[in-house]
Amino acid sequence: MVTLTNKRVLLGVSGGIAAYKSADLVRRLRDAGAEVRVVMTRSATEFITPLTMQAVSGHPVYQELLDTDAEAGMGHIDLARWSDLVLVAPASANFIARLTQGRADDLLSAVCLATAAPVAVAPAMNQQMWSNAATQENLATLRKRGVHVFGPGEGSQACGDIGLGRMFEPTQLVELATELFKSRGLDGLTVVVTAGPTWEAIDPVRAITNKSSGKMGYAVAVAAIEAGANVILIAGPTALPDPERVTAIHVTSAQEMYDTVHAHIGAADIFIGVAAVADYRVAAPQSNKIKKNAERMTLELIRNPDILESVAKLARRPFTVGFAAETDDVVANARAKLEKKNLDLIAANRVGLPGSGFESDENQLTLIERERVIELPAGNKRTLARALIHHIAEAIHAGHRIKNPRQAHR
Ligand code: CTP
Repeated sequence: MVTLTNKRVLLGVSGGIAAYKSADLVRRLRDAGAEVRVVMTRSATEFITPLTMQAVSGHPVYQELLDTDAEAGMGHIDLARWSDLVLVAPASANFIARLTQGRADDLLSAVCLATAAPVAVAPAMNQQMWSNAATQENLATLRKRGVHVFGPGEGSQACGDIGLGRMFEPTQLVELATELFKSRGLDGLTVVVTAGPTWEAIDPVRAITNKSSGKMGYAVAVAAIEAGANVILIAGPTALPDPERVTAIHVTSAQEMYDTVHAHIGAADIFIGVAAVADYRVAAPQSNKIKKNAERMTLELIRNPDILESVAKLARRPFTVGFAAETDDVVANARAKLEKKNLDLIAANRVGLPGSGFESDENQLTLIERERVIELPAGNKRTLARALIHHIAEAIHAGHRIKNPRQAHR
């Protein structure tokens, strides 16, 4: 059964009598496995106290855009990044209007504007306000932008009217949130990601390696977690901390990475090879430090196995995604790799430009499939990783991948 295990839900509470149901909603989201943090608008605090929401969520409630204490802990950008889903329940007519305008002058609106996560609103208002053309036009605009609208329901209202405008019940909202993850993400799937450089020893202190920082691979692992996958990250030497909720396995050489990938690939639905794997290793690494006695020395190198290609060749192969670092003819070179290695998708990464590549936080990615090429807007590695994972999830849900019999029978 799909639940909200591992999901981070930011619950936004705006002003309305239905805010009294938000405490129950927090409890039910948590029962479904989600971690919940709460942002309240000023008018929401007229209907339910922040203390109640703090007690049920187990975290301090965020209220002010420019609160020095909160900014020191988690500011609006951190909250926006933290969220796997921003759910605004209740969403008042006023809040819906603010969201439509793209306002950023209160914390909740600013978080909605700053997040790359899906945003859902659960409208709650008087039936006349609901049917007003202004509200309906606002909602049509929000829907067009990809905002999910949960409800409202019909029935008797706090003001005595009967009609549309009642906030959906917490149980319905939890169900809809669950559905959202199920249809869009990688819920319940296992993803194996390689990241970082490899280290091919020459002697105990020297090696052949490369400048990969691991940032892109780690960002892909985090994006897959956010999409609901179980993630096994197999990383060469990097300076990065292990991401939360990811099973991280640290390796050194390409051969070790190959062995570790193959020890785990049986469980994988998706393999994403982001590591910059050394193509060659030293034929005879020395067990003692080499002394500089000779004027010249020659290192004999032998080919490392191609991890990505070996995964794509498996009889029960996962959906297999490669990365290609190219300096020129990006699409043509990457497409050649896609075909040669028989991949489902390759993400081509232009290197050698300022503001992209190995050590940068920014990157540029072009996604290449057999029939199409998708240029992702340049952005930080985290945003690009989310876009890549979103694309993979869509490809899987659209049934593009039928190469793995295990997956086809799901
Ligand atoms: N890769 C791998 N194992 C290797 C070499 C590469 O799994 N031994 C994977 C990388 O993780 C990446 C993809 O193959 O997903 C492309 O690697 P790249 O080095 O760009 O391409 P190569 O096939 O090595 O070709 P070349 O170096 O000639 O460009």
